[in-house]
Amino acid sequence: MKRYMQITNVRGREVLDSRGNPTVEAEIVLTDTMTGERYAGRASVPSGASTGRFEAVELRDGETRYFGLGVKKAVNNVNTKIKDAVTGRNGLNQVEIDRILMETDGTDNKGSLGANATLAVSMAVARAAACSLHIPLYQYLGGAYTRLMPVPMMNILNGGRHAANTVDFQEFMIMPVQAESFSDGLRICAEIYHFLKKLLEEKGLSTGIGDEGGFAPDLPDARAVLDLIVAAVEKSNYFPGQDIKIALDAASSELYNEKTGMYHFPGESALKGGEVVRDTAEMIAYYEELISDYPILSIEDGLAEDDWDGWKLLTDRLGEKVQLVGDDLFVTNTKRLDAGIKLHVANAILVKVNQIGTVSEAMEAIETAQKNGYKTVISHRSGETEDTFIADLAVAVNAGQIKTGAPCRGERVAKYNRLVRIEEELGTVAAYKEPFNKI
Ligand code: PGA
Ligand code: ZN
Repeated sequence: MKRYMQITNVRGREVLDSRGNPTVEAEIVLTDTMTGERYAGRASVPSGASTGRFEAVELRDGETRYFGLGVKKAVNNVNTKIKDAVTGRNGLNQVEIDRILMETDGTDNKGSLGANATLAVSMAVARAAACSLHIPLYQYLGGAYTRLMPVPMMNILNGGRHAANTVDFQEFMIMPVQAESFSDGLRICAEIYHFLKKLLEEKGLSTGIGDEGGFAPDLPDARAVLDLIVAAVEKSNYFPGQDIKIALDAASSELYNEKTGMYHFPGESALKGGEVVRDTAEMIAYYEELISDYPILSIEDGLAEDDWDGWKLLTDRLGEKVQLVGDDLFVTNTKRLDAGIKLHVANAILVKVNQIGTVSEAMEAIETAQKNGYKTVISHRSGETEDTFIADLAVAVNAGQIKTGAPCRGERVAKYNRLVRIEEELGTVAAYKEPFNKI
């Protein structure tokens, strides 16, 4: 008989994210209509800094409190419109709940309720539903075939909008592709992170960190960063290119200037004493050089979010050699991903649940990617909370990769530690494998 876990309470509140900005948290109560037992689920929403132009709307109050960043309106939407719309519904029917959220919002981009309001409720419903069935969230979301632990794409050096240093590319990440397990990979990455810190100290460079926990020293360009990372890997007794592969998030929409049609490198310009700009062809050539000189296996947002022609060129040139991840390009939006698939643009998608605003729409994008041979990387935001939802999601959908920052800062470490627990729970069923064998 179909079970009915009735939504009997919905409550939103304003809490803080890891940058000290407000964000939405929601709590859902489900009541088992057969037994009267009650189950609760709580979730909070992350927030980006280098947000893509095509992301769902994050509703902010625009008032003086919190410098305009308050989320009282979104919280109010949770406590009134959303509560009215979902109360009485079956919390076990995630797709239906998400559809109600979309219909109650009524826009294409969650601009009316706010994606921060809809997502908080969507995630909290999933968590309460898992709780009501007495199974872990990853198993509830993924079902019987959930088994693949993600390879961490661990950000150890921050730049761009995530730090106040001169590094122009936003993220430099290491991937322990040959590790025996997720936990083993986590250890390897943490060791390299510590060796990197020592190297920075030896060179008199700053060991202060950026928003995602990676170090944020002033360095002249990507090569200087990559040299340091390779040295840290070697110092840790691992082989760059074999044990460890490098991933970049250029976040190039932030470097792109619409007026000039060029990519501007302010940090590189400042340290080299002359304006450094690159056009699309030069960007592609730059990546080509970096790939041939360093063990780079993944490049995210190599070109700007609307440069489809450039992305096509980039994919034609590098798509057989490296993973090309669309973040601002796809914004976890199945329509944009479909367009990319048709054009043969990129070969992987970054999945950020708050870019789209409901759990089932994010899962739809993942399913579309996987059906079409695109890789999936589940991702945090630079503004995070202690919520570990994405760790469960990564395992649930057998995503294969997760990007959730450095082994530093509680909101990042919380996701890694959740994955350690999941791996232990899966026991001998847990799998861990190099995600690039096809590339
Ligand atoms: P954001 O950055 O969360 O600041 O948007 C993350 C990313 O670009 O991948
Ligand atoms: Zn990105």
